[in-house]
Amino acid sequence: MQKTVHSIAELRARIAAWKQAGERVAFVPTMGNLHRGHLHLVERARELAPRTVASIFVNPMQFGANEDYAGYPRTLEDDSRQLEAIGLDLLFAPKLTEIYPRPLADMTQVTVPELSAVLCGVSRPVHFSGVTTIVAKLFNMAQPDVAVFGEKDWQQLVIIRRMVADLDFPVEIVGVPTVREPDGLALSSRNGYLSAEERAMAPALYATLRATAGRLRTGERDYAALEAEAKTRLEAAGFRPDYFEIRCSDSLRQPTSADVDLRIFAAAWLGRARLIDNLAVVLD
Ligand code: PAF
Repeated sequence: MQKTVHSIAELRARIAAWKQAGERVAFVPTMGNLHRGHLHLVERARELAPRTVASIFVNPMQFGANEDYAGYPRTLEDDSRQLEAIGLDLLFAPKLTEIYPRPLADMTQVTVPELSAVLCGVSRPVHFSGVTTIVAKLFNMAQPDVAVFGEKDWQQLVIIRRMVADLDFPVEIVGVPTVREPDGLALSSRNGYLSAEERAMAPALYATLRATAGRLRTGERDYAALEAEAKTRLEAAGFRPDYFEIRCSDSLRQPTSADVDLRIFAAAWLGRARLIDNLAVVLD
């Protein structure tokens, strides 16, 4: 049966007992308000190790001053029931002061430069330092053998892989493909911010990624023109685009015409929801 713990000491005690018994531990960090995409991460974690741990913590350090930290949906009871139903072993749901005992500005931070400064990092300059700081702390607390992250946040996944490599964390990072609604919309907690009318418009984001991927596959290489056209298409569909960029999938650098392992990244506002999505394009 799933157990919920709120302190680092309880978390460590439970995990230490499993490790002493020789059991591997897979970890899924989340901010809660779980949807099928999160549950899919936990299901993948269960395939990777006999013991699974998830965390639910809405991390203030990764929200900018004018972002949705205060209003971010907190649904711990419902989340906990869903996790129990799919066989999670341990849920870590710490209070704010357990994680940040001092004012945020006084806490040590972990930053992955360069990769954190592009794409979402341009309009959300503090976001990725907040993510890497909390993930580093959670890794130190839980000491998992493997940790699972969704590919919808591809930039986050690349940044966490780099942090793990640079800081020698003994943890394997596994990415899990994006779970989508039947009309293509990527599952996200922020989809809950959409009105019925906006929800009907939202699939245009993925449709635009797919259209651009099709153009790349037929040989077009004027990336700037493709990006500009995609933004116009998103505006016509009712979005306020933040960015639409074609990049190299793992380095996130701008591609030359010789690069083949590409990924298209988009972030766009629809009402009060900022939606992000990405699509891999591997050229022959
Ligand atoms: O992807 C998320 O939900 C968050 O960024 C994470 C990794 C749980 C860190 O707070």
